[in-house]
Amino acid sequence: MNEDPGGSALAALRFPPTVINLVPTERLRAPSRVKRLRFASAAEMVASLRPEAPVHCLRPHAIARLGRWFVRNFPGDVMYAVKTNPDPKVLTWLHRAGIRHFDAASLAEVRSVAKLFPEARIYFMHPVKSREAIAEAYFKHGVRHFALDSHDELQKILHVTGYPDDLALLVRLSIPNDKAAYALSGKFGVKLEEASSLFQATRKAAALFGVCFHVGSQCMDPQSYITTLGYVRDLLTQSDVRLDMLDVGGGFPSVYPGMTPPPLSDYMQAIRQALAMMPLGPDCRVLCEPGRALVAEGGSTVARVELRKGRKLYLNDGAFGSLFDAAHTNFRFPVRGIRPDGHFGNDEAPFTLFGPTCDSMDVLQDAYVLPADIREGDWIEIGQLGAYGATMRTQFNGFHTGLPVEVADDPLLSVEL
Ligand SMILES: Cc1ncc(COP(=O)(O)O)c(C=O)c1O
Repeated sequence: MNEDPGGSALAALRFPPTVINLVPTERLRAPSRVKRLRFASAAEMVASLRPEAPVHCLRPHAIARLGRWFVRNFPGDVMYAVKTNPDPKVLTWLHRAGIRHFDAASLAEVRSVAKLFPEARIYFMHPVKSREAIAEAYFKHGVRHFALDSHDELQKILHVTGYPDDLALLVRLSIPNDKAAYALSGKFGVKLEEASSLFQATRKAAALFGVCFHVGSQCMDPQSYITTLGYVRDLLTQSDVRLDMLDVGGGFPSVYPGMTPPPLSDYMQAIRQALAMMPLGPDCRVLCEPGRALVAEGGSTVARVELRKGRKLYLNDGAFGSLFDAAHTNFRFPVRGIRPDGHFGNDEAPFTLFGPTCDSMDVLQDAYVLPADIREGDWIEIGQLGAYGATMRTQFNGFHTGLPVEVADDPLLSVEL
């Protein structure tokens, strides 16, 4: 790939999709070479670029601040869930903040982290992996930590790796996700009543044995961690196995309109309190796998209004772009209008926001309050999209988000620490 001097990054923001199309894959392959445009704020970016394509604004200072906070306050090792936002720059800011452990869901994520940080520890936490992915992760990238939730996956990992004596295996539990805005319990995890035999088989096969779980994404109640650690304690007693790793997963919340969680320090306090009741040996490592809480507020999308029909606004980004969550979950996102030439009036009004594709599903849930005189040619900044935002975009109908830029202003909302 060629060097990307700032000039072609600028061009990609202004020119049609075919030019931009090549960028995301290239970015994953040669992260350090991509030069990002930087602006004092999202509004300054709009004033300077007048972007035709949507622009994803990343806020390095916000991501670094949360990375440092987690490293200082979590009572164990912080493992970043790469799927949340795999942008190499995001990984680098978190690494600089002190994060040295990475949860990969796929071989592509394993490769990306291994290339960026050869010394980092990679955990392959998807409970269902292909044999090829396990083999490359183990033999080529030195991955030793694997998650599983069935006897068959255990046998698969053992067989592919040749029954070695250095595996660190974590059994994923299925637990209630009733305090989370986005449940993750339906697909993975061994049921509590079936966990004992898997614990024992995994303990026998692994050099290091661990337990992991996920309380559900955007967990609104710290008590969930205490309740779940209680289940783990009972299971360990029943199964009579020694634990080397205890991974309390992700689920730590960010803040969204209408969804303000307790301060993150309450979660740390709850986890400390629950850990004190666990039968853990002195060598047992504690881990967490946050995603959303680390990066949600560090990213926003700036989309342009292409047409107004009464209270309907047609944007150039939507459900198949970086606004997937805004369309498919009950999450609401903070918004603000941007008009570089002139000012909005004082009145506000609720609008329905449509994305650019022809699909009727390309509409955001809920009404968004914006300046009442917003019109074609204005831009809208949508915040809290650093997690599961640009990461989820597709090229459906030929639309997608352009290159990310970096901005230095504050996020639209910040979670209380
Ligand atoms: C295994 C695993 N770990 C961690 C995370 C990150 O979760 P969150 O963004 O809720 O912190 C996810 C999210 O899907 C996950 O599947």
